[in-house]
Amino acid sequence: MRFTSEANPGDLTHVTTSGSDRGVISNSSVKLPQNVLADLRTDHAGEVGAIQIYQGVLFFARDPALRAFAAKHLVTERRHLRNIELWLPSSHYSRLLPVWRLAGFLTGAVPALIGPKAVYATIEAVETFVYRHYNEQIQTLASIPSLKSLRLTLLSCQIDEETHREEAVIAFGSVKRDILLRAWCAIVAAGSAAAVTVSRIV
Ligand SMILES: [Fe+2]
Ligand SMILES: [Fe+2]
Repeated sequence: MRFTSEANPGDLTHVTTSGSDRGVISNSSVKLPQNVLADLRTDHAGEVGAIQIYQGVLFFARDPALRAFAAKHLVTERRHLRNIELWLPSSHYSRLLPVWRLAGFLTGAVPALIGPKAVYATIEAVETFVYRHYNEQIQTLASIPSLKSLRLTLLSCQIDEETHREEAVIAFGSVKRDILLRAWCAIVAAGSAAAVTVSRIV
């Protein structure tokens, strides 16, 4: 199943252009409301964690296909972080970034020690959560015309996260998930939600 974005086709044409600066949209020094800053703090913490997930995978994984998967996604997550940082002043970053880095590293490292299928299932769980998280913000921003360029930045990230999720689903294949893998993915999803709740505040 492919998730459907809340974007209209006109919006998407703005953020799917190819090139090294894909998705980079100037913040134009727009003053952001506190609730938007709080949302962006969660996005920033999430992208910091996402980078560490793939660092954790690459630290332990030996499978060439998995390493290529992680290295490719890592490049994208670094671009997401740069794009979010264009909008979020450093004074508004989460004060718990070391925690999110460690949590992200473990989220990648633990399944990498088990095997490629465990990593692909983990990425599917993470990206399913992240897609929905971005979607909520994109819907909220639809009612704030002055923040259209921020909305397009988040749309660009969301499109990439959906691609990551789809690639993980394909790589996982039709293997049956045992109870331990299902439990691990539920923990990952719950942990992602908890991290958003906390990083919105701290
Ligand atoms: Fe990302
Ligand atoms: Fe991603």
